[in-house]
Amino acid sequence: MNTNWLEKIDTIKSLEELENLRIDIFGKKGYLTLEFAKMKEVPNEEKKEFAKHLNEAKISLTEALENKKTILMVDALDKQLKSEKIDVTKFVANPQIGAAHPVQFTMDRIITYFQNLNFSVEDGPLVEDDFYNFEALNLPAYHPARDMQDTFYTKDGKVLRTHTSPVQIRTMLAQKPPIRMIAPGSVFRKDFDLTHTPMFHQVEGLVVAGEGEISFANLKYVMVEFLKHMFGDVEVRFRPSFFPFTEPSSEVDISCVFCKGKGCRVCSGTGWLEVLGCGIVDINVFEAVGYKNVSGYAFGLGVERFAMLIHKIGDLRSLFESDIRLLGQFK
Ligand code: DAH
Repeated sequence: MNTNWLEKIDTIKSLEELENLRIDIFGKKGYLTLEFAKMKEVPNEEKKEFAKHLNEAKISLTEALENKKTILMVDALDKQLKSEKIDVTKFVANPQIGAAHPVQFTMDRIITYFQNLNFSVEDGPLVEDDFYNFEALNLPAYHPARDMQDTFYTKDGKVLRTHTSPVQIRTMLAQKPPIRMIAPGSVFRKDFDLTHTPMFHQVEGLVVAGEGEISFANLKYVMVEFLKHMFGDVEVRFRPSFFPFTEPSSEVDISCVFCKGKGCRVCSGTGWLEVLGCGIVDINVFEAVGYKNVSGYAFGLGVERFAMLIHKIGDLRSLFESDIRLLGQFK
């Protein structure tokens, strides 16, 4: 009985026809469904033979339908690929050329700058252990500075890293001094307003060498040169600040790129814009990774903030809206 159906399947030419035929066989009123329904009426001694026969038919028909489906799908894909072939040699008068997203573009510039100074580029996981994100960075559980970093926790007690600083720890544990590294990447905080998004990007930097070899002067020189490279002709000033992982710590300002330091709405009339944090690596951080007789500096910055100041973008959130009218301006 199923040879007939098998022949039919064989002659099918389209996926649509095949689906119709499947319904004719397996549907509510399909051939096999009705055959199975007849079981009730079959005398008991014939039931076993009858069922065996039907099950065999079911298996061979299912297989035949599947095989045919695969063949037809491959055919369809083949046809589609042939019809969509593009001629890359064809002349186009007005090509639409894409461009890197301003955040990526800024990130690339930062990375290239430090690569040219022989910094290595290091990477770490986005879902971090408390140890790397906080503990080893001199942020023990009771530390009030943990409040500065509104954290996303996972059910199994891990954190979405709140900064790229944990890569410092991973790199120091995996390598030996001297170290000269940056760690670019995304970070996460429970924050959402004009100047904050729950995901943003940072670049972390770390330099470690022997005892007495790294001073604040080294840090200052590298930061000033870097900021002039990124923002052009700006003044740079260091303000004493606090970070748990550095001592002494500093926040670094540039003269306002909007008003050239005269004072405007963006810089709240101060003439200065804060752009990064840095400092001399705290002894507790070195102790956490088992380093002795070393010295070093570290810094961290927000890439979106750099991109906004460089391209004079007003609202941080617009960087994440994929609006082609905004992105098209950065070719
Ligand atoms: N981790 C800091 C933050 O997310 C940024 C930072 C500041 C990193 C100072 C550093 C540093 O390495 O020395 O706000």
